Amino acid sequence: MRKPMMAGNWKMNKTINEAVELARAIRQEVDGVARVDCVVCPPFVDIPMVSAELKGSNVAVGAQNMHWEASGAFTGEISAPMLKNLVEYVILGHSERRQYFAETDETVNKKAHAAVAAGFTPIICVGESLEQNERGETSAFVSGQVRAALAGFTAEQVKAVIIAYEPIWAIGTGRAATAEQANDICGDVVRKTVADHFGQEAADAIRILYGGSTNDKNIREIMEQPDIDGALIGGAALKVESYVAMVRTTSELNQ
Ligand code: PGA
Repeated sequence: MRKPMMAGNWKMNKTINEAVELARAIRQEVDGVARVDCVVCPPFVDIPMVSAELKGSNVAVGAQNMHWEASGAFTGEISAPMLKNLVEYVILGHSERRQYFAETDETVNKKAHAAVAAGFTPIICVGESLEQNERGETSAFVSGQVRAALAGFTAEQVKAVIIAYEPIWAIGTGRAATAEQANDICGDVVRKTVADHFGQEAADAIRILYGGSTNDKNIREIMEQPDIDGALIGGAALKVESYVAMVRTTSELNQ
């Protein structure tokens, strides 16, 4: 009942022309795939052209970040009204934003509220560092991030939010969490935290993605896990072959 999602986070890659080319190729290849929500999240400047290219297709567009205010003196930032009619999703609180651009649980929460108010579906990222993992702090830390990100939401709103569990040590390292490890955190920590604070119905409805070195080789095992509803894909989403293979595998599993 939770529709699987393959979301590509293109990060700071692809010029406008390259982005349109990739979007067009993906659109052609996944045409007719109905059992997977396909999402691409290009850099801001690429979004208008990519969005136009994907209009009427089964590939949706997301942003990689967004400010919580609608307008004002925030040099270099982009707001929800600017993204209106261009995106359906917005990635918030990616670990790279938390690490390099000083995002906090508090700003992620403000952004999540602004995104929901604007009608976007936030994809909120959580995940522990290698040090935290080695110290055995993963559950407490990730649970705290989930609680903070969802503070002030109703159970009904939470059902439509997406959480991406992305252990920092697995991002871009080629060292993915094992499928069982990832499932344990997605289920016993993220979904359980949602159940404790918003009830079982919200926990059953919310989609939880895994992210961190997913590719066309390991996606089957990951998507076979009961508490993982999709993937937030970095490197492997930049190539049409690997991204499309991941979508096809997910679609097969969801027959
Ligand atoms: P990766 O990135 O798939 O390249 O590890 C995932 C992410 O940062 O969302």
